[in-house]
Amino acid sequence: MINKLKFKFFIFIILIFSGIASAQTKNIESDIRLDWFKNAKLGIFIHWGYYGVNGITESWSMYHKKVSYQDYMQQGEKFAANKYNPEEWAELFKKIGAQYVVMTTKHHDGVALWDTKLSHLNVVDKTPAKRDLVTPYVKALRENGLKVGLYYSLCDWSHPDYDVVFPRPNTKKDYPQKGQKKMASWERFVLFYQGQLRELSSQFNPDLYWFDGDWEKSEEQWRSKALKDSLLNWNPNIIVNSRLNQYGDYKTPEQGIPVVRPDGPWEFCMTMNDNWGYYPSDTNYKPISQIIRTFVEVISNGGNLLLNIGPKPDGTIAKEQKERLESLGLWINKHQPAVFETTAGLPYGHFYGPTLVSKDRKKIYLCLFDDPKNYIQLKGIQNKVTSIKILGSNEKLTFKRNGGAAWNNIPGILRIAVPKGESLDKYVSIIEISLEDELELYRGHGNAVELND
Ligand code: GLC
Repeated sequence: MINKLKFKFFIFIILIFSGIASAQTKNIESDIRLDWFKNAKLGIFIHWGYYGVNGITESWSMYHKKVSYQDYMQQGEKFAANKYNPEEWAELFKKIGAQYVVMTTKHHDGVALWDTKLSHLNVVDKTPAKRDLVTPYVKALRENGLKVGLYYSLCDWSHPDYDVVFPRPNTKKDYPQKGQKKMASWERFVLFYQGQLRELSSQFNPDLYWFDGDWEKSEEQWRSKALKDSLLNWNPNIIVNSRLNQYGDYKTPEQGIPVVRPDGPWEFCMTMNDNWGYYPSDTNYKPISQIIRTFVEVISNGGNLLLNIGPKPDGTIAKEQKERLESLGLWINKHQPAVFETTAGLPYGHFYGPTLVSKDRKKIYLCLFDDPKNYIQLKGIQNKVTSIKILGSNEKLTFKRNGGAAWNNIPGILRIAVPKGESLDKYVSIIEISLEDELELYRGHGNAVELND
């Protein structure tokens, strides 16, 4: 009896340890997979599809019955992509400092931008573009050293086996479903959508999948776990955003910038005006200053900005969008060390504004949204400061420590002189503080100084 009990206990311990070990391997794996992503800082989101033809909301215009299914799909007749030049896109993205790009290969409307064999609802069969638009996109990104992201909507509002909330004609003729007649309709849909992902993976081997629309069904219905396993099988380095139920690798806040620093890897996606696709009547563009501030806030909290553009149906980028990309690029170029050599900044309380810390933790970057008055102040730094300058002009700034009780490890305030007017950046100025050794912060609440010097 005792021996039996001992044996059971032994097995129990082994199971616990093997569980811990496999959890650790998983963590290590995802750390390695996400390595490039955590350092990427800037990605470009591309919403390109039929909706740009009439300048209406991507897919949602059908959902909200603002346009009929037939009228929506008719836009395809004018989706020509006749000036599509993905090399030019890729060169522009690279020039401005983006590290990855995510393009809609299929939005909720179900229109595929590649030559899918699983539906005729694709730009090769249905539009004057008459060709696969994903292949040249992937090629151009790879040639420019950019990581390849594919957006894919899980929900598909055209597929005959997928229920929708708006009137839709019978779309069966667009979906060759040979030998699937006897299957339950949801089984057919799962076969279809996972088949499309198999096509995308085998043809393009993306670095990242950006899923969308998971909220329409449960994890069991999508078979999310099995899908994630297949994706990892096809490419062990694949990264998946957080819209595959709980099987994503990073968080995906959208449109509203997080106020509190999210835990773990994350990416903030944002439109330049109020729409994802090309929507010429929407002129509510965010000013360049807002886009640059947002970028700084995101990276200072350890995230990436996935900034959206909506190219026109001919494949060109509207001048308002190009101008914003280029201005952000100029700013990034001028402030490169603060952008690319850094991780998330100091915790709240040390500086009134965003900050960044260099990877070797020997530099702090203070980001100034407003032109400073009197002096710039930083609190709670234990280290000796060796020099301070403003990025861009490289003007050296004088500084003084004031207050505190250094002999009790209570640092005072670091007072930094205000830079000359011409050294300040038009949008966001960055002050670089060099430390003698690795950053050491004072995070105390304060206490009595019991022994005076
Ligand atoms: C939303 C919308 C979709 C858009 C996406 C981008 O989830 O459904 O239209 O493509 O956000 O993040």
